[in-house]
Amino acid sequence: MGNVARHFGASDLMDSWTFNKIAGAVLGTLILVLVINFATEALFEVEKPAKEAYHVEGVVETASTGGASATPAAETIPDWGTVLPKADVNAGKDIATRCQQCHDISKGGPNKIGPELWGLLGRPRATEAGFSYSSAMSADHNPWTYDKLFQFTHQPQSFVPGTKMSFAGLRSADDRINLIAYLRTQEDTPEAIPAPAPAKPAAPAAPAPATPPKK
Ligand code: HEC
Repeated sequence: MGNVARHFGASDLMDSWTFNKIAGAVLGTLILVLVINFATEALFEVEKPAKEAYHVEGVVETASTGGASATPAAETIPDWGTVLPKADVNAGKDIATRCQQCHDISKGGPNKIGPELWGLLGRPRATEAGFSYSSAMSADHNPWTYDKLFQFTHQPQSFVPGTKMSFAGLRSADDRINLIAYLRTQEDTPEAIPAPAPAKPAAPAAPAPATPPKK
């Protein structure tokens, strides 16, 4: 019995000695790995915001130039000659009720929280008599176009930074197209609808004059 007990005792001692050495080595390695991990993470943490800020700037720039970019955040401007004839003017009239919280759209209507919007398309920006515009809005008096209204109603604060129009914007492009199709009808002489853009593949080959075949 005594032999067995001593054997076990010695063996246990050896095991725990070996175990301690191995455990020590493993622990040391683990701590080293952890330290390296923390250090690396700290580095990444510092780098990340700087990169994202740069990225956002790029996107905003692309959007404001109005180019048909492939960047996911930038939006393609619709081909008005194609979308306007198909737009749902009644749906647009419904959406306009959201604007009418602040805007009167009828002819000769009053300015409210926002300026009166009759005849908006083609009207020079920030020129409604008797309305006190922000300096951001009155920094530009170029006329409102389909393109500009499409962008402005998407994100008013991005298109006119500093505008006092406190409206978040309409996410859906279809909603904005329908709204613009409705606003277009709210003027004495509705803004012309441009000709649809020619189909892309046809463009390079044919400079042929538009001679109707036979009638
Ligand atoms: C919460 C109130 C509010 C809502 C809702 C609102 N607007 Fe405005 N809007 C304003 C104000 C205020 C201004 C003046 C902005 C400035 O001077 O910076 C303005 C200005 C404008 C202008 C510039 C007009 C000009 O004379 O150049 C347009 C265009 C416009 N809004 C369209 C819309 C449309 C379209 C909607 C609905 C999708 C809408 N707004 C919803 C308050 C609002």
